[in-house]
Amino acid sequence: MIAMAKEQTPAEIFLSSATQAAKAIMETVDKDGFIHVFSHLDADGVAAAAIIGKALFRLDARFRIRVTQWIDEKIIGKIISDKPQLVILTDFGSGYLDLLDEKVPDFRMLILDHHQITGKVDNENFVHVNPHLHGIDGATDVSGSGVAYFVAKAISMENADLAPIALVGAFGDLQDKNEQRKLGGLNELILDDAVSANLVKVEKDLTFFGRETRRIHRALASSTSPFLPGLTGEVDKSLAFLASLDIKPKEGEKWRALRDLTEDEKKRLSSALADYLISKGLHTEVANLIGNVYVLAKEEAWTPLRDAREFAVLLNSTGRMDRPSLGIAICMGDRSAALEEANKVLENYRKNISKYLDWVMEKPERMKELDNIYVVHGESFINEKIIGTISSILVSGLENPEKPLLAFANIEEENAAKFSARTTDVALSKGVNLGKVMRVASEKFGGKGGGHNVAAGAQVPIDQIENFISTVNELVEKQLRGEEAGSNDNA
Ligand code: C5P
Ligand code: ZN
Repeated sequence: MIAMAKEQTPAEIFLSSATQAAKAIMETVDKDGFIHVFSHLDADGVAAAAIIGKALFRLDARFRIRVTQWIDEKIIGKIISDKPQLVILTDFGSGYLDLLDEKVPDFRMLILDHHQITGKVDNENFVHVNPHLHGIDGATDVSGSGVAYFVAKAISMENADLAPIALVGAFGDLQDKNEQRKLGGLNELILDDAVSANLVKVEKDLTFFGRETRRIHRALASSTSPFLPGLTGEVDKSLAFLASLDIKPKEGEKWRALRDLTEDEKKRLSSALADYLISKGLHTEVANLIGNVYVLAKEEAWTPLRDAREFAVLLNSTGRMDRPSLGIAICMGDRSAALEEANKVLENYRKNISKYLDWVMEKPERMKELDNIYVVHGESFINEKIIGTISSILVSGLENPEKPLLAFANIEEENAAKFSARTTDVALSKGVNLGKVMRVASEKFGGKGGGHNVAAGAQVPIDQIENFISTVNELVEKQLRGEEAGSNDNA
């Protein structure tokens, strides 16, 4: 009988590239080689580093992890001086192929990423695992921690217990973009692993952030999706709204979180909110009230680790506040002291964010509207590691969601500015691709940029800020007019 060769699906080809990376790791460990892991500083990058870290720890490997905002000469210098037998890049790398091939071509290197790809790698020392190589969308279908997870699982099935961490990374990168805030694509494979091992439960609930830890009235007051006019930003009015529904904010001395509400109270709250939104003419927002909630079943209640989205914010805070090792330790299983410390970091991170948001709103010139984009001038006030978060928060409240938001902060010691661009699905559907805009515009002025269609960043010399902004404004206009290949073009 002639066996017909069955054509592999893109997901299967992607998974076999993960297996190839796993083999390179095992070969290095077999020879007792030293492994240097570099990862991106956001929640997804911290989760990815932890997944690889745990897999290496279980192999009894010799390794070190470093978390940074980007790959630059300093990282290249580290690779050259430390001479690791294997370099693993997680949640970044695909935008730096040419640089890596030029500066460190002789190092064995794994690039485990989901960002848009720039350049080509034709170097047999490099193994590149990236969904975009196989026509799978890295902005929505799998994150950096998901890519790391597939590699870890190819090393050993024991690592399937890291599936919840991979999902946390995906939430960090806002990949729950499907209807009812579901995850899709390869993320669903990870979810299946997590659910079948009883590590994650998916529930339908009100989607307010802070289900496990935030006081209910504060959860309402801080909701931006859905935006609740008259309640969003209004703590006292949110409290009064709950009182009008006979929902008590406290149980004895203890403030209640959304998780503490009875089914009946939740029903009352959601139908009152739906009526409220409709009365304000916001019919479409009603659909955003209820969605999928992902519960890490083994984590303790009332901690930010129990809800995958809250977990992601905690990780983000550790990465962006220069304490990524805390986030990594927690993902690798550490609790007590590390969690206590991380909660403090999270609190400070939140304080910084409110300080920055207040500062932006204080003067109109700090957030300007141009023809095709909004620009937030964070200059020397906003920390360059937090500008990305500020950009992500502000984009959801824009008057015109077709216009992407570009925010920047100065990095004085490097004579550069860090730009963070974010946009909405509305702009994406019109052809906007920020990864491409940031890459093309930054390269024009001696900088470096890239990312995803919906979220991208760049570093630009400080004296080129104005030129860069006007070029971004022009490029976005071209994409909106359909003159530039947009969201489907990752080249
Ligand atoms: O830094 P920021 O959070 O704004 O970046 C948005 C996305 O773009 C991130 O996923 C980041 O890794 C990516 N990025 C990139 N190349 C850059 C800057 C940012 O791929 N030079
Ligand atoms: Zn990522």
